[in-house]
Amino acid sequence: MTIAVREKDMMAKTEPVLVAEKLDYTFPGADRPVFGGVDFALAKGEFLSLVGGSGVGKSTVLRCAAGLLEPGAGRIVLQGGKAHSGRRRRSIVFQDSRLLPWQTVEANVAYGLHGLGLSRQEIAARVEDALKLTLMVDYAKRWPSELSGGQQQRVGIARALAVEPSVLLMDEPFSAVDALTRGRLQAELLNIWERRRMAVLFVTHDIEEAVLLSDRILVMGGVMGGSQPACITNHNPVDLARPRSRKEPEFFRVAATIADQLQ
Ligand SMILES: Nc1ncnc2c1ncn2[C@@H]1O[C@H](COP(=O)(O)OP(=O)(O)O)[C@@H](O)[C@H]1O
Ligand SMILES: [Mg+2]
Repeated sequence: MTIAVREKDMMAKTEPVLVAEKLDYTFPGADRPVFGGVDFALAKGEFLSLVGGSGVGKSTVLRCAAGLLEPGAGRIVLQGGKAHSGRRRRSIVFQDSRLLPWQTVEANVAYGLHGLGLSRQEIAARVEDALKLTLMVDYAKRWPSELSGGQQQRVGIARALAVEPSVLLMDEPFSAVDALTRGRLQAELLNIWERRRMAVLFVTHDIEEAVLLSDRILVMGGVMGGSQPACITNHNPVDLARPRSRKEPEFFRVAATIADQLQ
């Protein structure tokens, strides 16, 4: 019985929505690629994390996945047919929320909705819905400067969710907030993911964060002591039941395995 349910779950999670094929990226003027041969597939509804040390190229991979950077070789393929009207197929959340300081919270969330063919009422409904999901509905008329760092990140997440993406790309979204706020935001993100079931590609250098959140964890690292381009060195399915606790021995075991891979 349990096994049958699990198999069904796994089948739903094999249909890819975003595929990276042999990605390679070299910054203009650099003498060698940051990374090479980066391959992965993000399945529909999957929570996939990319972990690695500082400077290894995680943000650059995510920018390629977002279409903000063109890889030098390889390609990003978005699957699942054409985007539905009124939606974007992917959206991104950065470490710093990147809100427009001269716009209110609600105007910031509405920003990405312009040009999608939605009516004013539809835009207002989407904004309200996204602010409700991120627990920021009471702050709709505020200015970004009136919010804490954690609240600004919530608005950044609301803005990304409002376009109803099938792929949500997140670049260390909680690394600039205090530990207590980070814990709350992680729980809220899981709650939103369980309700919306968009696929998430989550970049972090925090192993415990990756184990807490992810269905699968990719480890990115340099080989040959950094003289070669970085690549994906390990793929780790995380077979821990949800909700997860950092206190469980199994949680610790998975985190320790990944820490070893990062050595
Ligand atoms: N605009 C840029 N021009 C040149 N090199 C860059 C630029 N941005 C990042 N890099 C370099 O590329 C490497 C990967 O950067 P990044 O993707 O930001 O790493 P990570 O997100 O894993 O910390 C780093 O060595 C960094 O110094
Ligand atoms: Mg980065």
